Amino acid sequence: MAEGDVLYEQRGHVVVITMNRPHRLNALSVGMLDELNKAWTRFADDEEAWVGVLTGAGDKAFSAGADLKDMAEANASGAKPKSRGRGSVVPPSTPRGLEIYKPTIAAVNGYALAGGWWMAQDCDMVVADETAEFGITEALWNLPGPWAADLTSRIGIRHAIEVSVVPQRITARRAYEMGFVNWVAPKGKALEKALEIAVSIAERCAPACTRSFIEMYYRCHGMPIAQARALGTHIQRPLMTMEDSKEGPRAFAEKRKPQFKNR
Ligand code: COA
Repeated sequence: MAEGDVLYEQRGHVVVITMNRPHRLNALSVGMLDELNKAWTRFADDEEAWVGVLTGAGDKAFSAGADLKDMAEANASGAKPKSRGRGSVVPPSTPRGLEIYKPTIAAVNGYALAGGWWMAQDCDMVVADETAEFGITEALWNLPGPWAADLTSRIGIRHAIEVSVVPQRITARRAYEMGFVNWVAPKGKALEKALEIAVSIAERCAPACTRSFIEMYYRCHGMPIAQARALGTHIQRPLMTMEDSKEGPRAFAEKRKPQFKNR
């Protein structure tokens, strides 16, 4: 495990990425976004990495968003403000930004605010500690959050406005009701629950198939049905010529667990 603002740990086919600045509630410094970008790129490139879990160090925060103190310091020194957009100084840094379709799970163990919400949003699934608090707090500081442009596809326009325009933090349960959170875990158990789900995916599901479904959902979202089905067919076509798609039915017929090799 590398020590730094981001930790990367591989456990079999599951990778755990940890935002590691607990003294600042894992606030996203420019350096940390850079490290997150490297960590997710490593995850994408490693053929043995099948499922990713993102969490925050400590028991207080997943991430409290952009590092406001760094920003204040940079502004005071007259440094140019750092942009976080795609193609700008700061790299994409998330599975969605990097267009990674391997399954990813956010284990939200405390505050997920602003950029912290973004980090959770850009994973495919979210497990939240029952005490976690969520919010898009940019309007409190007059800062942009362009990653929220596609939040409406997850929780709808009314909820998106509620969480970004009303000065409030919402509970894990409320985020669950909005459809942002998949599972609410007992206090202190978000990572454990996320790992349980990650291991079950890695041990039981064919990796190419999980990726093709995720890719299909993101890429086909909002398309007319015929166009969506055509693209879905194109994305999933390679599955049928894989060794794994012979292994699946053969294992069923032989009453044993399939041994997928992602080939
Ligand atoms: N950037 C930099 N430092 C941050 C931070 C951020 N976004 N959020 C928290 N911290 C630091 C605090 O300054 C504090 O440091 P200190 O102990 O040296 O004073 C430490 O993390 C703990 O935070 P604290 O505010 O004492 O904890 P709390 O439990 O009272 O409140 C929050 C937690 C998250 C509600 C509060 O810190 C907060 O509102 N943070 C800003 C979140 C935000 O709006 N981010 C959006 C950026 S666009």
